[in-house]
Amino acid sequence: MISKPRGTRDFLPDEKEERVRTYGALRETAKLFGYREVETPTFELAELFIARSGPEVVDQMYTFEDRGGRLLALRPELTASVARMYSAEMRSIPKPLKLFYFGNCYRYERPQKGRYREFAQFGAEVIGNDSPAANADLIGMAFRNIAAVGLDEYVFRIGDLRVLRAILGDDATPEVMRLIDKKDPGLKAVLPDRADAILDSRIDEVRSIVGDDVMAEYDELTGILDAMDVNYEFDVGIARGLDYYNGIVFEADAPALGAEKQVCGGGSYDLGGVVGIEGLKATGFAMGIDRLILAREKDDAVGPIANVYIAALDDAAIPVALSVGQRLRTAGIPTDIGLGSARPNKAIKAALDRGCSSVILIGEDELAANTVTVKDLATKEQTTVPVDSIVDNLS
Ligand code: HAM
Repeated sequence: MISKPRGTRDFLPDEKEERVRTYGALRETAKLFGYREVETPTFELAELFIARSGPEVVDQMYTFEDRGGRLLALRPELTASVARMYSAEMRSIPKPLKLFYFGNCYRYERPQKGRYREFAQFGAEVIGNDSPAANADLIGMAFRNIAAVGLDEYVFRIGDLRVLRAILGDDATPEVMRLIDKKDPGLKAVLPDRADAILDSRIDEVRSIVGDDVMAEYDELTGILDAMDVNYEFDVGIARGLDYYNGIVFEADAPALGAEKQVCGGGSYDLGGVVGIEGLKATGFAMGIDRLILAREKDDAVGPIANVYIAALDDAAIPVALSVGQRLRTAGIPTDIGLGSARPNKAIKAALDRGCSSVILIGEDELAANTVTVKDLATKEQTTVPVDSIVDNLS
């Protein structure tokens, strides 16, 4: 037996149904906020990500050469793709543009609970504006998205890379940024004077180091979020792994997940140079759909597979079963059909297992009279109905 690649998953029907419901809740929320859905390719020219996604993401990228000798990559994320799409095809559309997307992403990571090599993201981007108002709109939407999928326990953390850089000055080396990103106490040995203020996110101490001017956008954003009743914490230590961020940054954690608890990440960025537009202001976020599903209370309500189950009681009735099924489906009635002949009690069990409210039985007598027998599974009532009236009978 050939197994699936490490870090990938199969979703069986019940799980898939739960995922589809989650996608639906996220999509509905995004529309509620006036964002429009887009889709980009699963693979891109690798240079798109190499240019600005940052060394961590590039090291984890799945790349391959196609037959034309081009270096392609399975997307590790979608922000660079959306920026590319915008610069190629959407520049003439009035800004700000508010877009959202779903997509599977690929990163060669060490798999564990909540961390996969193929995972699904839902994300949103505001292109043409990275103001506090734009970030507040996005964070407000992320907030509603998390609530809409049924996750109750989470924490939003907000920081600003300009504040972090102002604290660090020339000490903003990749190593220091990594220690900060991991909230590593080892930072104390490298930056003894500032490590505590950074690691504990002491806002007053940070403010006294950098001054009110550098904190101005953070203050404006959080003022709006307060008015929107959005809860958050100050976290000066959000460094984000992707290199394109340049201002406000934010993350949400679901503590129930343990080590891989980040369910959302984003912030203001500039991808203009990469896609050929200088000074493209934008902000956005992405959520890990797999983690959202893992973190919330299990939602295993499985809906009925069909309303009606049709069973032929005799092989000769199979064509009629299928033609009656076709009529019902054309009329919009979800219908499942047994593909062979069955005894009535087996057919009724199959119908109940599928959550159907009625079963249609077609045997020799029904064939001869051009009728079907309809059994209502709630009332147990059984009626004989001419084939031509079946749709009216069940609607
Ligand atoms: P990111 O923080 O790299 O940001 O990914 C966003 C979310 O994807 C994470 O918070 C996490 O929930 C989920 N995620 C990441 N890697 C994995 C994995 N291996 N397995 C499961 N889930 C994972 C971005 O991708 C940016 N493009 C977000 C953004 C949009 N920034 C601006 N606009």
